[in-house]
Amino acid sequence: MRRRATGSMSVKSKWTKTKWLRSDRVLRRSVPDTKRFTRSSLEVMTARYKTVYFKPTGGTGGNGIARVKRLGPGRFQIRKDLSTFEASSPRALYARLKRIARGRSYLLQKGIALQTSRGRPFDLRMVVQRTRNGKWVPSVMFVKLGKPNKIVTNYHQGGTLAKIDPTLRRTGCTPKQINRYKRRLAALGMRTARCFERRSGRFKELGLDVALDRDGRLWILEVNTRPGFSALKSLKDKSLYRTIVRYGKQYGRTR
Ligand SMILES: Nc1ncnc2c1ncn2[C@@H]1O[C@H](COP(=O)(O)OP(=O)(O)O)[C@@H](O)[C@H]1O
Ligand SMILES: [Mg+2]
Repeated sequence: MRRRATGSMSVKSKWTKTKWLRSDRVLRRSVPDTKRFTRSSLEVMTARYKTVYFKPTGGTGGNGIARVKRLGPGRFQIRKDLSTFEASSPRALYARLKRIARGRSYLLQKGIALQTSRGRPFDLRMVVQRTRNGKWVPSVMFVKLGKPNKIVTNYHQGGTLAKIDPTLRRTGCTPKQINRYKRRLAALGMRTARCFERRSGRFKELGLDVALDRDGRLWILEVNTRPGFSALKSLKDKSLYRTIVRYGKQYGRTR
């Protein structure tokens, strides 16, 4: 853990944060199966799931992420950035991933089939922030649409931000269903805030990346302890940006 200038705590390790989420009786149901990358966990995960995400434990911004798809028994497709590789044995797959890892620690996570809007996969960002009175609030939520042909939806990887209501409406949701998703997102955010608070009272802001799968289930892909603010300026409606900044000021974050 690291204390930042604003006094807000930041934790880089996705593994540590995943363990925290999984220690919560309620949240654990919304965390996709995740393991540290080893030769044997790779075998287990690729046998269990058709798609597995390969993510650097200390990564951010969608960097260093690869996706493994099982094509058939012992045959895999690996995608990273705009490249595609094939591996025709578990051994070749392991060797390829080792090369991508370049000595860094990695995680394997069950791949979630993201919902799409106009053909673009998207996930959701739920931000919770603390007021000067120490009360957590679900402050802003928005959509991150992936750039076509990318395996990540991050803004800094060519993704686009959008508002929740019109995006979900386009996937066929009724206003009632949309409100239900928004309530569930806020509840996940608040529960995560409580969960992290048990580890340290110094967290002031958290940004959850939440996948919505094609069965309507929500999955927490990761929790950011320093969620980005500036991408919100790209939305035509500046009210979300103003809200996140207004709360941020209460704990000394200015941008
Ligand atoms: N298990 C997963 N299933 C489907 N998509 C995923 C999964 N994990 C990550 N992604 C995609 O990759 C993006 C980046 O992953 P994330 O865990 O948020 O790492 P980063 O810290 O680099 O943002 C996510 O926003 C999502 O689009
Ligand atoms: Mg992320």
